[in-house]
Amino acid sequence: MKFFIDTANLDQIKEAQDLGVLDGVTTNPSLMAKEGITGNDNIINHYKKICEIVTGDVSAEVISTDYEGIIKEGEELAKLHDQIIVKVPMIKDGVKAIKYFSDKGIKTNCTLVFSAGQALLAAKAGATYVSPFIGRLDDISTDGLNLIAEIRLIYDNYGFDTQILAASVRHTMHVIDCAKIGADVMTGPLSSIEGLLKHPLTDIGLAKFLADYKKGN
Ligand code: E4P
Repeated sequence: MKFFIDTANLDQIKEAQDLGVLDGVTTNPSLMAKEGITGNDNIINHYKKICEIVTGDVSAEVISTDYEGIIKEGEELAKLHDQIIVKVPMIKDGVKAIKYFSDKGIKTNCTLVFSAGQALLAAKAGATYVSPFIGRLDDISTDGLNLIAEIRLIYDNYGFDTQILAASVRHTMHVIDCAKIGADVMTGPLSSIEGLLKHPLTDIGLAKFLADYKKGN
């Protein structure tokens, strides 16, 4: 299972990278704005900085919603760095653009996916990744993890290569549940990754080991 971090915060990206388990980064315009990164030139520059920190895939989202605009923007983003994955929204022109990019060998992440039907379309169009937003489904009292399971079943039925990127992961249990279901990737905040480290019995056990060691020294 690949671990992506879902942030545009360079310190957090560095921290996750230093842990040695990071496979990539996802961003979106809201995450950029949260870090105060606004204006096209600054955003482009920020993608480059992220690519310098990590060795894996970095999703860069288009903001155009028409076919020609998505193609133009996506091609420019893809040229920035070979780690860039063009993130395209699940809309009609987005699906057409994903097919175009796929035919051209440009990798894509189909974002804002909330149903199995949308995920099926993204795979048919040749998306590299599909991003079902599980946390946002949970927010409206719909089982986000169930969507991951449905997509897993459908993709396995037909051998689609599109990787299931569980997005909008909010906490460590989401990560574990996605791993059980067989999501290929999860993207979440640093806390969802670091939360995997924690267990009170580990802390208690370590404290006891260290205390016992000190007895003889
Ligand atoms: C996916 O790539 C999105 O950036 C992200 O996971 C959205 O998560 P949120 O629902 O926490 O905003």
